[in-house]
Amino acid sequence: MIIVKNISDLNNIISNQSSKTSNIGLVPTMGSLHDGHLALIRDANKKCDIVWVSIFVNPTQFNDLNDYNSYPNELENDIKKIRTISSKIYVFYPSVSEIYNNGVSSEKFNFNDLDKVLEGKHRPGHFNGVATIVKKLFKTIKPLKVFFGEKDFQQTIIVREIINSYFPKITLITCPTIRNNYGLALSSRNKLISKKALNNSGIIFETLLFVKNNFVKTSYKQLKKSVKQKIEDISTFKLDYFEIRESETLNPYDENNKKKSYRAFICVKVEGIRLIDNLLIN
Ligand code: PAF
Repeated sequence: MIIVKNISDLNNIISNQSSKTSNIGLVPTMGSLHDGHLALIRDANKKCDIVWVSIFVNPTQFNDLNDYNSYPNELENDIKKIRTISSKIYVFYPSVSEIYNNGVSSEKFNFNDLDKVLEGKHRPGHFNGVATIVKKLFKTIKPLKVFFGEKDFQQTIIVREIINSYFPKITLITCPTIRNNYGLALSSRNKLISKKALNNSGIIFETLLFVKNNFVKTSYKQLKKSVKQKIEDISTFKLDYFEIRESETLNPYDENNKKKSYRAFICVKVEGIRLIDNLLIN
């Protein structure tokens, strides 16, 4: 497996690869890989001639220093997992200074307020940070296809905007959320909660299923009340937000028009760790 740590090596390899094929796939990650990432990498491996996985815990997308510092980092394990798919996959594993030189700051983007709701509202600046690193990766790796998980649904919408604005030739491929036996959406942050909380964590997806099953016959106000009750019935779980929005545009839910395609979004703080999930509900 080839692990590349600096941009000049990356540029050399990419210019060589681009002369042979344009079908380069990129799976951007922050490492600590789980089966959700591996599903993306497997899909990329099927659909592309060359696959790059980037592993970079991007400081500009964290608005909470504790969250950044406690983010799991396990390169060796990650490499082992990638190797189970193919040893021909390329890994880009840069340092913070390699990516940001001396200025760790985000570019400012205009996403027409798509970045101001849901995660963006609760993590100010988060999507400018995500977009900054995603744009840098797309620019240097020059992928034809990029792979993102639906667990971070709002992120896929932001990536679609970046592609439309700067990289119209790139195809965005999204993969369904992978869940553990409890129904909890896989996330690197799941490692940070206790076994007891993990045992209870199925309630997050159960609650989304409850919303899906009761969406047509129940008012938004009542759904919100039930969601809060169900989640906070567990003493260490706190609802950060629950919202229903139009799936494509993230526009607010219009209760008078249940025919549009709606998605429920939830964020629960479990022992202080933010866990997010979402589900198409009609
Ligand atoms: O989804 C993630 O892991 C990150 O937000 C990403 C896309 C790798 C950018 O740092």
